[in-house]
Amino acid sequence: MTFHGGPDGGPEPRYDFSTNANALGPNPLVLEAVRAADLSRYPEPSYAGLRAALAGDHGVRADQVVVGAGASELILRLVRVRGGPVLTLEPTFGEYARAARVAGVEHRVARSGREFLEMLQGVAVAFLALPNNPTGELYGRGFVREAARRATHAGAWLVQDLAYAPLSERPVPAADAAFRLYAPNKAHGLTGVRAGYLVAPAVEPAARLAEAAPAWVVGAAEVAFLRAQAGAEARTWLRGTLPTLFAWRRRLAGLLRAHGYEVREGAANFVMASLGEDAAAFLRARGLRVRPLFDKGLPDWARLSAQRPEALAALTTALKEH
Ligand SMILES: Cc1ncc(COP(=O)(O)O)c(C=O)c1O
Repeated sequence: MTFHGGPDGGPEPRYDFSTNANALGPNPLVLEAVRAADLSRYPEPSYAGLRAALAGDHGVRADQVVVGAGASELILRLVRVRGGPVLTLEPTFGEYARAARVAGVEHRVARSGREFLEMLQGVAVAFLALPNNPTGELYGRGFVREAARRATHAGAWLVQDLAYAPLSERPVPAADAAFRLYAPNKAHGLTGVRAGYLVAPAVEPAARLAEAAPAWVVGAAEVAFLRAQAGAEARTWLRGTLPTLFAWRRRLAGLLRAHGYEVREGAANFVMASLGEDAAAFLRARGLRVRPLFDKGLPDWARLSAQRPEALAALTTALKEH
């Protein structure tokens, strides 16, 4: 079992702090494009038109772009194709470890940036989330460049997971020399659309990854989504939401601190707080969902995303009783 934010099998909560999707979403322009997709036909099997559009957006060759059914699917595919050992810098997104488990390869854990750099030698794939989930931490440019340099030297695939890059308060220092993984559904508030893509540093690994996908790995709605999110107007909408999201995040962090909880506030649209081991269940019973972090060895901590003022008011009321 892997733990995520979002649906947990229970009734839908009134206020959901557990997913990191843009609380001002969905992006109306992107949603409209998804709804207008022609579902009566197969999408083009090689996604050539879509890959050309994404390649133009990133200034790379179309054959460096690999389309997938969300970043999670591409993470599993990366490890299936490349094998192990897999290196992660913990605590981080759980799908990297799951990919290693599913592929039956070794998972090596670094607990600091220094350890991560030292451990790159001898691994097949290494993952870095920029900003990181659940800490929101954004590693510095020097560190990312050094990781890319060492990975290239060691023959390891360094994968920079940029799922939260569009929701980052500070510029994200992704290195072109390493893999870049994009999961735009969170930023546009459309996590039900299962689409992501990868920009490989060269054509050969991209070809291997594309070859390993099932036929039509994404459908016409996902193709429409990926095309629409790359449009200038869609990006303008997204940029316009950021000041509000960061203001809401600061208010969230402030109210949690005012209740005496320790808070870690990074660059992204969510925070970590030491609410105590029983907090997630306590809040869930009151119609609020947070993401507990016991699966990451942090039983006292939870992750909470920036939400609307009415959700913050409900959280304040619930925490007073806690
Ligand atoms: C760091 C990170 N990468 C990737 C994903 C998943 O992306 P997708 O919805 O495209 O599978 C998440 C979702 O929580 C995430 O936190």
